[in-house]
Amino acid sequence: MMRPHVPIVAIDGPSGSGKGTISRAVARYAGWHLLDSGALYRLVALAGQARGLDPQDVEGHAALARTMNVEFGVGPQGEEVVKLDGRDVTSELRSETAGQGASRVAAWPEVRTALLARQKAFVQPPGLVADGRDMGTVVFPEADLKIFLTASAEERARRRYKQLKDKGSDVSLAALSREIAERDLRDSTRAVAPLKPAPDAELIDSTGLSADEVVQKVLALGRSRSLWP
Ligand code: DC
Repeated sequence: MMRPHVPIVAIDGPSGSGKGTISRAVARYAGWHLLDSGALYRLVALAGQARGLDPQDVEGHAALARTMNVEFGVGPQGEEVVKLDGRDVTSELRSETAGQGASRVAAWPEVRTALLARQKAFVQPPGLVADGRDMGTVVFPEADLKIFLTASAEERARRRYKQLKDKGSDVSLAALSREIAERDLRDSTRAVAPLKPAPDAELIDSTGLSADEVVQKVLALGRSRSLWP
């Protein structure tokens, strides 16, 4: 029996480009599933810390990427809840430490390969919005629509700053800008699956645009490909 075609929208881009917000809004509009692939890399880093792994232990982290037990759920107020091996790690997951750890383990091909099957398992009817760095290039090259979302480094640092401040974190804009620049460099120069637009990706520069304006652009692109009404 032929399996029905499950449409995929891939949304890639650097940290702070607004991928998370845009992907969530598009998935909600379409009523599709959402894959936050960055969360998987963050979870591998957190799982390694929790097990007391040597930060350089590639095989150990790859094994965790295969075996860790991850649950993406919603709490009583409709908020996102992420559990790692039964432990609620929702706020830990969004910390800068987890982000830096994720960027480190994401440079290892063994970890990326170990996460492939997990990511592909998200392809479920009626459709999937996949958010990450290599969704359109490596994980879902067959995606029906590929978006590459950018924004200037200053704007991305400002957005992260506001996000973290709103959560009550004590951060400095200068330190964040430096960390974003470091992470960009590592993510785009690594040997495997570096951050770059797929040849057939639609580029959207969100500098100076509101989240809603970007969502409308993505929805229009999806509409022109008959992905939704
Ligand atoms: O999007 P994010 O900040 O949650 O991602 C955390 C790190 O994970 C980021 O520095 C790069 C890495 N990552 C990746 O290499 N490939 C993906 N598909 C998603 C994230």
